[in-house]
Amino acid sequence: MKNQKLVLGVLGLGEGRSIISAVQQSEYYELGNICDLNEELCRQRMEEFGLDKYTVRYEDMLEDKEIDVIGIYTPDQLHAKHIMQALRAGKHVICTKPVIVGLDEAKELKECQKNSGKHVFVGQSTRFFESVKYQREMYEQQNIGELITVEAHYKNDSRWFLERDWSRQPGFSWMYNFMIHAVDLAAWYLPEIDEVFGYGAVSPNTREYGLNAEDTMTFVARDTKGRFATIEGAYGSPCLDGNVEFPIECTLRGTKGISRGGYSKFKYYERTVDEEGRHDRAETFDEKHDYYFRFEKENHHAGEYQNYIEYFARKLMKGETPKPDLEEAFHTIGILEAMKRSLESGLPVKVGSILREYGL
Ligand SMILES: NC(=O)c1ccc[n+]([C@@H]2O[C@H](COP(=O)([O-])OP(=O)(O)OC[C@H]3O[C@@H](n4cnc5c(N)ncnc54)[C@H](O)[C@@H]3O)[C@@H](O)[C@H]2O)c1
Repeated sequence: MKNQKLVLGVLGLGEGRSIISAVQQSEYYELGNICDLNEELCRQRMEEFGLDKYTVRYEDMLEDKEIDVIGIYTPDQLHAKHIMQALRAGKHVICTKPVIVGLDEAKELKECQKNSGKHVFVGQSTRFFESVKYQREMYEQQNIGELITVEAHYKNDSRWFLERDWSRQPGFSWMYNFMIHAVDLAAWYLPEIDEVFGYGAVSPNTREYGLNAEDTMTFVARDTKGRFATIEGAYGSPCLDGNVEFPIECTLRGTKGISRGGYSKFKYYERTVDEEGRHDRAETFDEKHDYYFRFEKENHHAGEYQNYIEYFARKLMKGETPKPDLEEAFHTIGILEAMKRSLESGLPVKVGSILREYGL
């Protein structure tokens, strides 16, 4: 850390655009450099953010002694490699989701992180969205009593995503790239999920792109205490307007109440019941819109990234581990792997046995 600020280098400048914006607006950070293989995109970002340099060689950022943290926003299939390069160069890592696209590389990654003594934080952005953060704060204040079930979903017609070359290459799936947000929310509230079962369909709409990946899925995930979550995803067909059904939604049912938060609407709903009767709350955070969505439309995540890079910095200052770390992220990937196997076998699958299979 130089001058009490963390110097951050950004790798991958599509979604990486948001973290550049977050760094520029943060008192905890300064921007070290930006990097993308696409030189035209580098120039575009340099102009957009008034920067004076870029590189198309990742090695330049790895060799730069001024850089403390690498923010990784490359295609999913490259994350493991890019994280390990950063750790071996002595950098902390903030990596977007999914941290990896299968568990084959997990053990090596874990050892690499341990040997480096550096942190790897996984940017599960939805946790850092306003209404989702608020729901968590209320939950920690025990507003709904004891948790009974979680209902999480990510439903969004995302066929536009299949225009990207890497979305049609091995390692991409709707499950790992999209549904992970809903899975992460379920695992955030039920960190001991150990069994999953589900059904999925590859719709004709996804097949049209030559992709054989389930685009519509429903799962039940149960934890070691017998509590469970339903987790649903739908990506290849029309969805309702976000005002009717949040694209990402998390509903918590507890002994004393129920709450709902989600993305991308600035709304939170809650009902609690006590001896005096029912208490309904509907909070809105519309004034935060431009903090979260800084570019055209609502297709980037700058506010969430601002929240998580600052959370990362504060944790480092306190000498604590920013979460989700690799261990937590691997558990989430283990749940995804169990989901995949359940679709293949038609049976419930244990998460723990999958993690053990990979030495985790
Ligand atoms: N909510 C979220 O957290 C969120 C949202 C969108 C995307 N993402 C994640 O961000 C990542 C990037 O997604 P995207 O939508 O920006 O994709 P994208 O294809 O637009 O951008 C990826 C960029 O990485 C660059 N790149 C590829 N290999 C490289 C290398 N070896 N060195 C340097 N640059 C390289 C490409 O040129 C491209 O510009 C994905 O992992 C995706 O899952 C996360």
